Parts: sequence; C-alpha cells; structure tokens
Amino acid sequence: TKPLKVALVGLGTVGGGTFSVLKDNAAEIERRVGFPIQIAVVADLNAERARQVAGEGVDISSDAFEVVNRPDVDVVVELIGGYTVAKQLVLAAIAAGKHVVTANKALLAVHGEEIFAAAEKNHVMVGFEAAVAGGIPIIKAIKEGLAANQIEYVAGIINGTCNFILSEMRDKGLPFAEVLSQAQALGYAEADPTFDIEGVDAAHKITLLSALAFGIPVQFDKAYIEGITKLTKEDIEFAEQLGYRVKLLGITRRTDKGVELRVHPTLIPAKRLIANVEGVMNAVLVKANAVGPTLYYGAGAGSLPTASAVVADIIEIARASQVPLESRVPVMAFKTSGVDQNVC
Ligand code: HSE
Repeated sequence: TKPLKVALVGLGTVGGGTFSVLKDNAAEIERRVGFPIQIAVVADLNAERARQVAGEGVDISSDAFEVVNRPDVDVVVELIGGYTVAKQLVLAAIAAGKHVVTANKALLAVHGEEIFAAAEKNHVMVGFEAAVAGGIPIIKAIKEGLAANQIEYVAGIINGTCNFILSEMRDKGLPFAEVLSQAQALGYAEADPTFDIEGVDAAHKITLLSALAFGIPVQFDKAYIEGITKLTKEDIEFAEQLGYRVKLLGITRRTDKGVELRVHPTLIPAKRLIANVEGVMNAVLVKANAVGPTLYYGAGAGSLPTASAVVADIIEIARASQVPLESRVPVMAFKTSGVDQNVC
C-alpha cells in the first residue's frame, strides 16, 4: 500500500507537537495502520520556525494554498487557527478532494455546517478530535463508543486555561492576571486569551459536543456564555468553606423544550470526582441511557496531548482510505439530523 501523505499547515504549539509525534512514533503507527504516514510538506509563514521544527529533508512552503493543491498530498492538517484564512484553507482543501484534520474549534463551531456539508459533498473526511478537550478522545467516545445510547447530557471542564487559573488561584492564592500570564507562557491559552477566560472557547467546544451527542446542527450563536473574569479569590475561598469547588463547565442537555447549551462557572461539591480535576487537565462527564454515567479525563491543552488527538485523526483517515466511501463513519455522529433542532 502507498504511504498516506500529509501536509502540515501551521507549526506553532500543536503543529510542532504533531510533527514530533508523527516522526517519533512512525514505526508504531505504521504497524497499526499497515503502511506509513509521511509528512509530504510543512507550511508556515515563518520560514525560520518551519525549518527549526522540520529540520532538513522535509519540504517547506510559505504558501498554505499551494500545499493544498499538490497532487501528492492526501490530508491537509490545519493548525493555524482563526476564522478567515483557516476557513478558506479548509474549504480549498475539501474542494481539492483532500481530507482535513483540524484542531480549530472556533472555526467549526461557527462555520461547521458549511464545512461539514462541503466535506460530505466532496466525499472527504474532516477530523477534529483535537478541537475538544485536547488529548482526551471525547469525539470518538461520543461518535463511536457511545453510539448505542441516547445521550442525556454532556458536562465538562473543557478549557484548560480556565481550570489552570482557578486551580492556581485556589492553591496558591495567586491573582488572576498573574496566573493567566503563566498559562500563556505554557502554551495553553488561545492566541486571543479572552476566548479562554470569557468562556468562548469552552462554548465552541460544547457546541461541537452538543451536535455530536444529539445529532443537531452546530449552533454556537445559541449558546449562553459566561466566563471566569468576574470571579475573585474570595469567591473561590467562600465556595471552599462551604464544601464546593468553582469550575467552569460546558453543559449540554436534552430537555422537553430542546437542547440546552451553556457555559458558566459552577459550584461542584468538593467530593465529586470532577471537582478534583486540577490544572490544565480536562474532564468530560457523559450520561447516557444504556451505559449510565461515564467520565473522561486527561490533558486538555498543550503541545503533545493535542498532537495525540491530531495524529489519531490522521490514523483514522489512513484506515478509512482503505474502505469504500459509503462504509465510512460520517463526519458527524449522525447520518441525518434529528428532531431536537432547537437549542433552548
Ligand atoms: N486554550 C485552550 C484551553 C486550548 O485552554 O483549553 C485547548 O483547546
């Protein structure tokens, strides 16, 4: 079998990690898939950074759109972030018949319907495991592991930066701004950190999980969003005295009136497992009618954990490229949209 050829676009925190994982684990990955996965080309506006990450012997381009049209590229991995160029790139890749892997939750939460429709039409796959909860395979858990169930709700700590800030404020009594700077230095925060602290990033992610769990369209504009910027050290201390932890949760739930979709700080009894998720770790609780509650825990941000999810999608595409189109798992978890169309 011919190798699967990947174009890696964007060599920041996640792009660099993805390069490392593909390179360091190449032999093991080949044994899993049955043929090699090769990086055909990397693209980054910063040529120096690209050379540093890729070393010698890998083709480097400064033009992401040129990469997309290369005949030897099977998969385009979009790790540049943002809405504008990323959207054009993803749509161009799909139009060129390339599979896409992206960690861009903002893009998919806002333009997901258009992107998924284009992918279906062009018979290509769009993998976005890395877009939600970093290294935790929550997309695959909901799409595949829980596919037998009617899901009741999904609730999770899905922003590592906020959880890191809340943990550090509680443990070390540090002020908000100082901890935010640390989270940025560690590569956890978004390019625009207001997305993290205002709850927007968590809302992007819970919007995607909601669509996956309930088979409804992606509807970020319907989400209720409240971040952690108004929380003080005193709030956290008082909660502690009363036996609670403050966590920023993303919650989506099936109700009689439609699907709830919300992000806000929540008081959780200190004894609950999810209350004890600290630092950059994420945890997602899924309650479903056959299996009951299940809990998924792991690193929600950072270079290698997020790369783990990106590469899992590339591997899924490598395997799927061997089966007929109609047998592939759909991009979203449902083949048809369900009755719960509305978010209330
Ligand atoms: N800024 C995000 C977070 C990165 O802190 O969770 C992972 O999506």
